[in-house]
Amino acid sequence: MSAFPKLPTLERLKSSGIPKRLLARTGLVAVQHLLETTGSLFEALIDAGLPAHQIHVLGKAYSTNDRVARKLSELGIRVHETQQPFPWGGYDEHLRLAATAMWQSVADWACPPDIDRLVVLDDGGHATTTVPRELAGRLPIAGVEQTMSGLHGTDDTSLPIPVVAVASSAAKTIIEPLMIREAVFRRVAGLAGPLAKRSMGVIGAGNIGQAIVRGILENAQQVSVYDPEASRLPHDPRVRVCTTAGELLSRCEVLWGCSGADFFDGLELVEPGVVQVHLWNPTAADLSGPSLDPRNVGVYGGLARKP
Ligand SMILES: NC(=O)c1ccc[n+]([C@@H]2O[C@H](COP(=O)([O-])OP(=O)(O)OC[C@H]3O[C@@H](n4cnc5c(N)ncnc54)[C@H](O)[C@@H]3O)[C@@H](O)[C@H]2O)c1
Repeated sequence: MSAFPKLPTLERLKSSGIPKRLLARTGLVAVQHLLETTGSLFEALIDAGLPAHQIHVLGKAYSTNDRVARKLSELGIRVHETQQPFPWGGYDEHLRLAATAMWQSVADWACPPDIDRLVVLDDGGHATTTVPRELAGRLPIAGVEQTMSGLHGTDDTSLPIPVVAVASSAAKTIIEPLMIREAVFRRVAGLAGPLAKRSMGVIGAGNIGQAIVRGILENAQQVSVYDPEASRLPHDPRVRVCTTAGELLSRCEVLWGCSGADFFDGLELVEPGVVQVHLWNPTAADLSGPSLDPRNVGVYGGLARKP
């Protein structure tokens, strides 16, 4: 019996006749959101011949579903912990250190002939950028990175391994941003009164930012945008491009943060601060009991005023 939901693409992969021996000596090292669907992926790989104990995974503290983590451990997967506290703004470094610690235990274990290659499955660049160079010299290692920030977000531009960039796929650049936009717009629908007719600004004109810009323009004449990367700015006469974040702040009453960067610096956070989004409106009628359980809510949000 499956521990996780069956997903059609993975089911097709399983029935495509991959020889089991192909994955028998492969190790998988992952930094992932530990959600049910991540479990589905690992379970499909195990069915396809990847021994569970050869999977090492590090979850993200803000999105880990404890029940999923427990079920992965029960399957025999090595689940690494990141529960220690970290300072506000220090999560990136915290995760990098946790990934480094995971690699240390992988390096102690991954040796030929039992393991003859490693695949890294990353979501933010913390696993691919911390691969120990000694290990990369000992075993063939290749990575799959799901985000753009994981490809470009570090000062150290020379990745120690080749990486497949899933972030440029249609799923991440077109399909998912639209789904995220619809979810966010639904979430703030209750604020329509206060939001209506306010001047809107978008920080970060990447996949999500551009989807938000298009969504705002369906109901507004103009939107202001700031992104330090000029090549990402939309070409639309209704988009007013700001050359600094300060200019955007001074022009707009409502800001949409779409950069993935911490842009609350220098602003006054409104109570209750940066918290799981359901805590902003805990009595909302559309949230059922289990979805209000803090362990099931993986999205944080905050509101801040210009000082
Ligand atoms: N694309 C998706 O489907 C998806 C899904 C879940 C979560 N996310 C998260 O949402 C965030 C945005 O995703 P995306 O796909 O749009 O990423 P992206 O890399 O396409 O866009 C981010 C944009 O923000 C800009 N930026 C970076 N720092 C900035 C700063 N300080 N000020 C202004 N702009 C800045 C970058 O130049 C870039 O254009 C990321 O944190 C990502 O991990 C994305």
